[in-house]
Amino acid sequence: MSFEHYCYYLFFLQPGFSTILSFKAFLCVLMFISVFSFWLSPGGLAWALSKTRVHVVQTRTAIAGPSGLPLLGLVFAFTGSLTHRVLSNLAETFKAKSLMAFSVGFTRFIISSHPDTAKEILNSSDFADRPVKESAYELLFHKAMGFAPFGEYWRNLRRISATYLFSPKRIAHFGEFRRRIGLNMVDEIKVLMKGNGEVEVRKVLHFGSLNNVMMSVFGRSYEFGDKVSGKNHGCELESLVSEGYELLGVFNWSDHFPLLGWLDLQGVRKRCRNLGAKVNVFVGRIIEEHRAKRVENNEIIVGVGDGGDERSGDFVDVLLDLEKENRLSDSDMIAVLWEMIFRGTDTVAILLEWILARMVLHPDIQAQAQSEIDTVVGTSRLVSDSDLPNLPYLHAIVKETLRMHPPGPLLSWARLAIHDTHIGQNFIPAGTTAMVNMWAITHDEQVWSEPNEFKPERFMKEDVAIMGSDLRLAPFGSGRRVCPGKAMGIATVQLWLAQLLQSFKWIPSEHCSVDVSECLKLSLEMKNSLVCMAVPRVA
Ligand code: HEM
Repeated sequence: MSFEHYCYYLFFLQPGFSTILSFKAFLCVLMFISVFSFWLSPGGLAWALSKTRVHVVQTRTAIAGPSGLPLLGLVFAFTGSLTHRVLSNLAETFKAKSLMAFSVGFTRFIISSHPDTAKEILNSSDFADRPVKESAYELLFHKAMGFAPFGEYWRNLRRISATYLFSPKRIAHFGEFRRRIGLNMVDEIKVLMKGNGEVEVRKVLHFGSLNNVMMSVFGRSYEFGDKVSGKNHGCELESLVSEGYELLGVFNWSDHFPLLGWLDLQGVRKRCRNLGAKVNVFVGRIIEEHRAKRVENNEIIVGVGDGGDERSGDFVDVLLDLEKENRLSDSDMIAVLWEMIFRGTDTVAILLEWILARMVLHPDIQAQAQSEIDTVVGTSRLVSDSDLPNLPYLHAIVKETLRMHPPGPLLSWARLAIHDTHIGQNFIPAGTTAMVNMWAITHDEQVWSEPNEFKPERFMKEDVAIMGSDLRLAPFGSGRRVCPGKAMGIATVQLWLAQLLQSFKWIPSEHCSVDVSECLKLSLEMKNSLVCMAVPRVA
């Protein structure tokens, strides 16, 4: 039966309905569908609602994009775990790589899958705010740098952290500590190999990464062995970070359907409030301990040099030491410190897990990196920070992994249009959420040759900047809100990778192969964590 026959049967020939009544019903349905499709296309409900602003109708050039389901829009692209791929396919289908419009419930989105429009969005001060999700708000992030509105408070936080946490001197200052954590990880991996004959690297990398950020921010570290006993604060913090990650990664219906907000059907608000209270106690305790120590030592712990970064204290001391006009309240301080721990931990661990997976999958590439390390460092001493500038192939491996598996394929946190603005000819109303699909750009054949092949050599031929100036590969974002921890993140990943490659040959486990399936939570993780064998190279 053809579709037309089916409709005719449905509306006119069903027993018990008069033909006249059925004809009216048919007309109503038809009108409803045509009005709905007019309003919903392109871009769906939230875009349709923005048409109600008269001047918008007059000046608007429609941005191509899917309508999605009535009312829901593209909800199901976001409830799945491969949102970056779904959005990339849609941009291709709608020929909307440069800009695509869509709705999720009542939230209006644009997304760029092209370096030019990505640059326009990320570098424009019109998109320098971020949409604050309910979970981010409840977890205190609206007071931290990442979600703070573009303004004086945010500028102040960026300046303080750029000077005292992320300056080249501070990063170099923590080089020795990073190296020691790397060695601890090597020892831990040897222990695990001895016990199990294989190693699940994720846990080791995560604990190492947490410890690293803990040291620069809170000035303390935890022993690897202690976590087994479960009595150390590192374990507690690790579970707080993991739960925060889960909550921020969850698709929360309340963010896009305001009426559902007060129902908290998924229990996100309740869980966030519980977690927020625990974070307050944990970080508050650390601040109090710092205060007590300062009193004990007559406030001579730190001593901020005139140059700013010549100091011996940690980031908590920096915040406690701020001049009156910049001083933060305790609750702001808790938010800022918590965010640093939170952001700095998973991104680094996840990237390293992807790199090691690639090393197991490409033994020739791994061997070439090891040969480079052996040539530069020799076999009688261990690799350190000062060797890194002489290891270009290792850098290329890190870049190629950032290209194939960017930890934030959608750049993790979106941007928000502060004012009515334009991208090219396209009018973007204030309040529109703007995203960049970095994954789509780094997998676009028109941007990268053989984008699905893991080929670090491409970066030996062409030196592509990854810190935000070249939008073909900007895994740390770009513009005013570019990741402030990018240099620290890269320094950590490069050193630990060099240490792990110098110490071990990485080979597949006898029980399971490497699975590069992805799962997008807050970051793009390996769906099945890497389990492999690490065979010692250096005696
Ligand atoms: C491999 C490591 C990392 C990756 C891939 C990464 C990626 C990103 C991305 C994509 C953004 C959004 C940028 C934008 O909107 O343009 C971001 C923001 C941010 N990152 Fe990172 N990041 C990493 C490491 C770190 C570390 C180690 C820290 C701190 C310890 C950190 C702290 C932050 C903060 C505070 C923001 C918010 C900045 C703002 O809104 O002003 N990140 N990061």
